[in-house]
Amino acid sequence: MTHAPLLRQITDFANRANPYPLYEELRKTPVLHEEEDGPYVISSYWDIKNLLHDPRISSDAANLTAPGDDELSGPEATGLPPSFIRLDPPEHDRLRRIANSSFGPPHRPTRVDSMRGELARIVTGLIDGFGDARQIDVVDQFAYPFPVTVICRLLGVPREDEPRFRSWVDPIVAGLDPDTRTSAESLKTAQEARLQLGMYLNGLVEKRAREPHDDMLSDLVNSRGPDGAMTTMEVLSTAVLLLIAGHETTVNLITNGMLTLLRFPQYLQRLRDDPGLSVKIVEELLRYEPPVQLVPQRTCITDIEVRGVTIPKGSRIWLVLGAGNRDPERFPDPDRFDPDREDIQHLGFGSGIHSCFGAPLARLEAQIALAELARRLDNPQLVEDPPPYRPNAVLRGPRHLGITFDGLR
Ligand code: HEM
Repeated sequence: MTHAPLLRQITDFANRANPYPLYEELRKTPVLHEEEDGPYVISSYWDIKNLLHDPRISSDAANLTAPGDDELSGPEATGLPPSFIRLDPPEHDRLRRIANSSFGPPHRPTRVDSMRGELARIVTGLIDGFGDARQIDVVDQFAYPFPVTVICRLLGVPREDEPRFRSWVDPIVAGLDPDTRTSAESLKTAQEARLQLGMYLNGLVEKRAREPHDDMLSDLVNSRGPDGAMTTMEVLSTAVLLLIAGHETTVNLITNGMLTLLRFPQYLQRLRDDPGLSVKIVEELLRYEPPVQLVPQRTCITDIEVRGVTIPKGSRIWLVLGAGNRDPERFPDPDRFDPDREDIQHLGFGSGIHSCFGAPLARLEAQIALAELARRLDNPQLVEDPPPYRPNAVLRGPRHLGITFDGLR
């Protein structure tokens, strides 16, 4: 570890492959504030959990008064209103309820579960596609195409358009990284990409308004429940949010999962013998190697006190989920990967009103993906450890994961 300020080390790529020793350092100062205009960094489990449930903590960047902060998804900046992940109640709750009426209980209690067969077919097709190869890249050949295909089907976005919107997704995701956000140019690129993606989706939304299909875009544009209808702009910003969230997180859960199972092959073997273990393995992965390491978009709307430190109104707060998940005050022996833990109430999906909307889908995708990889790959081995990582500090995961194997079962 270097002697740079801890705040800088969080975003420093040198710590990407293994940020956990740094997090141990961070937890020694549970409320870290190293730079006058910089964020307050929170790293212990209970503080993070409490703040995620605290109504004095806002997700709306309009509440920021700290200089240098820009709203990535602000209306003036992009022409698209912020999506509900960047809004507070009551607007957040209204938009989330409308979106949820197309996705989960009580209106669509079977939507996710009814996709089980289709998810298994997509996974089988991807694994069969390895053909006679004895070495593959888990990311490019499996963990990326799988959730992308799923979110496209769910929303009603043509899968074959993926190369087109990929060029917009990449800069949007780069803009979520607090390090890149400091560059005005990358922020502008992200804003333009968000607008382009919104305009692309608008073409599909117009078609679905005329001729609805059985997909979420159709439901969003035609929603007429007790919460009223979404405006077209709200439909577009919600669709952008779902498309990005469906793209960039599950890929890391599956890849982190395969990496971890190959590091601890006894669990790979147990999963092969008992596919039902995938439920516990995925929960422990969300604790041990969470795909979202950091929530950097929170602001306090009034002065608040955390562990005797006053955080002034308007300050930015970073919640380091990856550090909270390894907090020894919450989890015994936190650095041990142990799917047999009795209690795995991780922060991998956040908590409180913004807790992950897509969690039931992400869980099911990862469970099926890992169980099938374990079952079908004969003698898989890592090509290199650690693998090369993506630059992003927020959405952390390997860029490639090379593995060899002796054939398909
Ligand atoms: C392993 C995969 C995933 C992980 C680790 C993950 C993680 C998270 C986390 C930590 C949050 C909270 C953010 C905050 O508090 O500001 C969140 C929110 C959200 N996630 Fe996920 N996510 C995953 C997959 C998905 C998928 C597949 C979808 C879409 C189908 C999705 C949609 C969303 C949405 C819409 C929100 C915002 C919820 C709100 O503001 O009320 N996520 N996710």
